[in-house]
Amino acid sequence: MALLDLDVPIVLGPFGGMSSLELTALVSDAGGLGSYGLYGYDPARIADTVARLRALTERPFAVNLWIPVGDEVTPGGDLSGPLATARPLYDELGLPVPGDVPERYGVDIEAQLDAVLEARPPVLSLVFGMPPTAFVDEARSRGIRLVGTATTVAEAVAIEEAGADAVVATGLEAGGHRVSFLRDAADSLVGTFALVPQVVDAVRIPVIAAGGIADRRGVAAARALGASGVQVGTAFLRTRQSAASDAHRAALARIAADDTVLTRAATGRLARGIRNRLIDTVEAGPIAPFPAQSWVIGPVRTEANRRGLGELQSLWAGQAAPLARLDDAGDVFRELAAGW
Ligand SMILES: Cc1cc2nc3c(=O)[nH]c(=O)nc-3n(C[C@H](O)[C@H](O)[C@H](O)COP(=O)(O)O)c2cc1C
Repeated sequence: MALLDLDVPIVLGPFGGMSSLELTALVSDAGGLGSYGLYGYDPARIADTVARLRALTERPFAVNLWIPVGDEVTPGGDLSGPLATARPLYDELGLPVPGDVPERYGVDIEAQLDAVLEARPPVLSLVFGMPPTAFVDEARSRGIRLVGTATTVAEAVAIEEAGADAVVATGLEAGGHRVSFLRDAADSLVGTFALVPQVVDAVRIPVIAAGGIADRRGVAAARALGASGVQVGTAFLRTRQSAASDAHRAALARIAADDTVLTRAATGRLARGIRNRLIDTVEAGPIAPFPAQSWVIGPVRTEANRRGLGELQSLWAGQAAPLARLDDAGDVFRELAAGW
């Protein structure tokens, strides 16, 4: 992509809470753009991560943050319903149900953005909207490229107006969260095939297609739709270089075509993953709003990860997961590059 001087415009999607330094550097070294998810990271961890990536690759890489939409709840609401629904899972794992409510959920975005400015990564990609103009100007003056993420045409236009250098157009096929910010995610479910050409027509900045691309055919199709590049998540998550748990990788290897669902079970926001007992149990009762639901169910997910229990983890996956058959990230990159 001209924007970043990439050999092949293939972007490794960031995985909030699940990114791998090794995989990010591997994709950048291969001539694409590796991305690393900084969701939940405090400023010290952000500085450390960017420094490590810089040490691992001489090529451009991206880091990624979630922008607050404004509907995030703060601690203090009544969570007795969601906690009661989750109780059998806590009992099963022998864990106490969370008690003391934290002072705040997550890390302050201002502190995260300041840390990114300080660290000066080559690229910062963003989901759930764009940062304020003052930040965009400051990032530009420091040579940091900004990439926004849109689930609708209106969001892509807003991202361009906010000063982004490129926009990821992500269809409903994609694994992980639906990153809508202008309308509710449930009302912003456009597929990649319909979304990408409409975004290409609506904006002047380069459009990176995401969602459902897992082999050379998907890459060639995205190019035919007018995309300047592709962003791929699930196919890389399946590889041994990713930071997904063994149970997660095994579930991706087993997956059949219709096994993913959109659910609010993990965080309170809509996200795509493989249906399992965690989702079934949580969806049987009330679900707390974002990000309180992460606090309600987080310890179960963490402990299930630790014990290798796939049924109680969040097994994020996109609809193209059955197409992702390769175990090695270098092989995935070569397969995708063959389609461009
Ligand atoms: C486990 C997981 C975590 C993700 N976390 C983020 C994130 O923090 N920020 C982001 O921009 N995209 C995130 N995504 C989306 C991916 O970066 C990518 O856009 C998406 O997976 C592309 O669709 P695909 O899964 O069909 O390839 C995540 C996806 C997955 C599967």
